[in-house]
Order: sequence, then C-alpha cells, then structure tokens
Amino acid sequence: MVKTKNTCLIGLQYGDEGKGSFSHFLSSEYDVFVRYNGGGNAGHTVFVDEKKIVTHFLPVGIIKEDSKVVLGNGMVINPKALILEIEQIAESLNKTFEEISSKIFISNKAHIITSKMIELDAEREKSQKIGTTKTGVGPAYESKANRTGMTIGQALSQKPLSSELKSFKKRLGARVFSTEILINQWSEDGLSLFFEGAQGVLLDLDFGQYPYVTSSNCIPSSVGSGAGFDPRKINNVIGVIKPYTTRVGAGPFPTKMSKKEDEDFRQRGLEFGATTGRPRLCGWLDLPSIRYAIQIAGVDEILISKMDLIINMSKIKVCVGYSLNGYIIDGFSDFPCSEDWSKISPIYEDWLITDFISNLKQTLGVPVTITSWGPNSSDKIFTPNHTGFNSFKNMFSNLSNIKSIMKRAITTKK
Ligand code: IMP
Ligand code: MG
Repeated sequence: MVKTKNTCLIGLQYGDEGKGSFSHFLSSEYDVFVRYNGGGNAGHTVFVDEKKIVTHFLPVGIIKEDSKVVLGNGMVINPKALILEIEQIAESLNKTFEEISSKIFISNKAHIITSKMIELDAEREKSQKIGTTKTGVGPAYESKANRTGMTIGQALSQKPLSSELKSFKKRLGARVFSTEILINQWSEDGLSLFFEGAQGVLLDLDFGQYPYVTSSNCIPSSVGSGAGFDPRKINNVIGVIKPYTTRVGAGPFPTKMSKKEDEDFRQRGLEFGATTGRPRLCGWLDLPSIRYAIQIAGVDEILISKMDLIINMSKIKVCVGYSLNGYIIDGFSDFPCSEDWSKISPIYEDWLITDFISNLKQTLGVPVTITSWGPNSSDKIFTPNHTGFNSFKNMFSNLSNIKSIMKRAITTKK
C-alpha cells in the first residue's frame, strides 16, 4: 500500500475557531477533502483575493483547483441549499456550476433534510431554546436514528419525485456515489485525504454540554462512522482554537466576558455567526475545556486563529481550572458533567502576551504549530515548532513582515 498523509482538522471549542481559514491554507497539501458530520449549520469562512467565501455543506477544499470533495454519509443535506451554495461558489470563483459540481462526490447514504425538518427545528426552538441554527440538522439526525429518515439514494429513487428532488436529481444526481468506497480507493491509490470537521468538541453530541450541543459527533474518530474510513489511517489530527472563546446559541458559558469586553472582542473580531448572522458571545480562553477536548479527540498539533486580536494587549486573562464544591477541575483528571456546568466557577490567571504560546504549549502538552494574524493565507505564520524559534518573543524580533501582516489585517477588517 502507498503511504499517504491523511489529516483531520477539528475545532476544540464551540465551533467558529477559524477552521475554514486554516483548511484553505493547508489545502495545497491534500487531494481529497471530506466532510463527515453536520450539515448547513456549519459556516466556514475563507478569503480568496480579498473576496469572502462561506461554505456550509462543502469542505473549503472546493476552492482548490482540481480537488475532489466528498460530502460523507455522516452528513445531513438540504438539496436546495446545497444547489444554492454551489451556485454561489461558482459565481465567486468565476466558474460554471458544472465545473464546481464535477469535483463533488455526495454520499448516497447521507440523509436528506426536508422542509418539514427545517420547520420542526424552528418550531422546537420556541420551547426548547437550544439556540440551533434552524437548518433542520437536529430533526434530520433524529429521523435517521429513529429510522424514519431518508438517504439521498432512497430519496432520488422515489416515484414520483417532488419538484425539489427533481431539480436535485437533474443537477447533482450524477454526483451521488458510495463515497466510502471511493475514498478508500483513492487512499489506496496514494491520494492524501483531509477530513474537515464541523462545529467543535464542546458542541459534540456525546461530549459537549448536553443538551446544548449539535446533533452529530465532532471528534476525529467519527470519520469512521461519518465517512467510512478507518480512523487509524489518519496520521495527523489538528485542533484549532482562538486565543479566546466564542459561543453562539444557548448553554452555559463559564468564561463569558464582561459586557464591555464582550462587545470589544465581538466588534474587533467580527464575531457574528457565518450561518445565522447572530452575534457570538465572547469569553476568555477556557483551558480545562480544551484539555478535555484534546484528551478525547487525540490532537497532534494546535493551530491558533485570530492572534491579531490580542497583539495589542500586554496581558490576557486565561481560565486555568474550574472550582466546583471546593474541588478543582482541570480538564485532565476531571471535567464537569452536564448538571454541573451551571455550578462551576472559573479560576483565572493573567498571562503575558509574550508568553502566551509557550504557556499554552506547556499547559496543553501539544505543540502550537501555526498561528493566524488575519483572514488571508498570507497571514499565517509557522510558530516555534516549525521555525526553531524558542519563544513567542523571539518570533516577533525575527519576523520583519509582522508589521505589514498586522496592517493588512486591520485594513481588511475595515
Ligand atoms: P444545530 O447544530 O443547528 O442543531 O445547533 C445546536 C447548537 O450548535 C447551537 O448552539 C448552535 O448555535 C451550535 N452550532 C451548530 N453549528 C455551529 C457552527 O458551525 N458554529 C458554531 N455553533 C454552531
Ligand atoms: Mg463557523
């Protein structure tokens, strides 16, 4: 068998960690890009030549020329919304619908999201108040589990077809495959696979703050059930974090910032949902949660987005533990269960910004390999583990282009 490099990239917080931007940055290294969980609830933002592109169903590898992208069986798909997304991406990239769709391989085993499911998602929100994206994701997974759902393959073989499905069959019917067979074959042939996780570990159906979670598993091992690929063949798991935390939707948020700080980070970080436009709540970096996420996901390296937001601060508040009934919870030996989330109090430390990366490496036990200082690929910097620098401080003194990167980051935001 040819030895290839397969990577899975996941969010270690509540989603919106900047996975899209890093996936795009790393895409030149891979041939096949696979989504294995979630649906249109995801919103992955990428800037290409200063043009903003947001993907919901498609992995951002779609932007790369000659890529193959897979919507795995673990996904739930709204046919109409997927067509719209392909149309928008084709327009942004000056391509035809066919040019884009010919790169897409949709699992015949992914489940379909119907308009009734979207209505049900919105209706439930009136009483349940999870703060869902109202994209029908929850009801689609629910139907899948209770065996009243419908796979894409089954939906397309119905007779007669609804007008929505007729249009889907006409435009994308030829792109529906047993994708689990294809990706295993491609891997055997020596192609490199990149699995793009959606949401984050703290929204994982099993390990997140139930019930304030999404309806799928966001951890790398779900590549097995969500794409039909042996997770042992993944050579590298990348976890993405921001140097602070954001959360959109309801649920406990122990490190939530004060109103003023929250407003400041939201405005400077443009923290508004890419799918719903909702303002994201901002909080301080929550290390116990990240430690827990690393432990269950099995992370080899950490990438940090949005470093430009903290660069002008001399110190930053970081949550290093929680206290619960007189006990300290650190995220390694213990972690709150659902019923304890509202009772814990965060324990903070003030970290010097210049020590931020080395402290993180030390407390998480995982190397930080790439940091991002703005939305473009050119704003990504390899950190000590790649460059041989010993500390964050050294990184600054050695990088002559940091000022221009910062300047561009600020101009782009305006
Ligand atoms: P659902 O996935 O639409 O059912 O929403 C469940 C919870 O997950 C809500 O709190 C959503 O705001 C959150 N959520 C779902 N997808 C994302 C995402 O891609 N980024 C951030 N939050 C998300
Ligand atoms: Mg997002």
